[in-house]
Amino acid sequence: MQIFALTGAGVSAESGLGTFRDKAGTGLWARFDPMKLATPEAFARDPAAVQEFYNFRRRNLLSATPNAAHAALARLQEALRAGGGALTLVTQNIDDLHERGGARHVVHMHGELLKARCAACGVLREQREDISTIEECPRCGRIGTMRPHVVWFGETPLFLEEIFAALEKADLFVAIGTSGSVYPAAGFVSQARALGVRTCEINLEPSDNAHVFDERRYGAASAAVGAWVDEFLAAL
Ligand code: OAD
Repeated sequence: MQIFALTGAGVSAESGLGTFRDKAGTGLWARFDPMKLATPEAFARDPAAVQEFYNFRRRNLLSATPNAAHAALARLQEALRAGGGALTLVTQNIDDLHERGGARHVVHMHGELLKARCAACGVLREQREDISTIEECPRCGRIGTMRPHVVWFGETPLFLEEIFAALEKADLFVAIGTSGSVYPAAGFVSQARALGVRTCEINLEPSDNAHVFDERRYGAASAAVGAWVDEFLAAL
């Protein structure tokens, strides 16, 4: 059995990391303008504001802990692996809570907050401290080019080839804690359907493309994901 899981900010919400959008209008992008904080143009125009936004989120991440949803997905990954199958865990989240929750291989299609990269030479390094606007690149020596290793609006998500190869092999596609509003991730469910793969959504509330899914389960991820994993493994 091959499962493809796509996770989003809702999986980490109960760990205290904010989501971007919700029906109540309290998400991060209701309070902050993504065009001023999450684009290459914003970084060129106002690097201090961009660094501060990600520095704040990095500090927040370092004090957060995984929740039961992360643990349940790690449990599913291990159970499938033991049975000769696999769970491909693709996340839009830039946090490391899937890994800290026990997952082995996580595909971070929107990058990782705990890594920084030089916008000039591309060198990649671990990053747990704040990044300053006068930081020197450890490889090329340029000043102010180190940026969070995250995908900004207008940039291409990472690992798309690996992702589409895994979708093609999947027996089941499950989207968890994602609003279905940012492409290409929001289009994976339609691609899965076109490939004849069964689809399931687990979210607090119906996502923008809820109608496309074969099965829908609503509730907080910390309870809903564990319940689904238990049911799924019992039926295997
Ligand atoms: P969103 O914030 O758009 O959506 C989060 C979804 O999780 C919403 O549908 C919420 O209802 C749901 N949710 C909230 N709390 C939950 C909980 N406890 N349990 C289950 N579901 C819950 O986040 P994403 O879909 O991940 O990209 O956003 C996609 C991308 O948009 C992000 O990766 C980021 C953002 O802009 C970039 O920054 C490039």
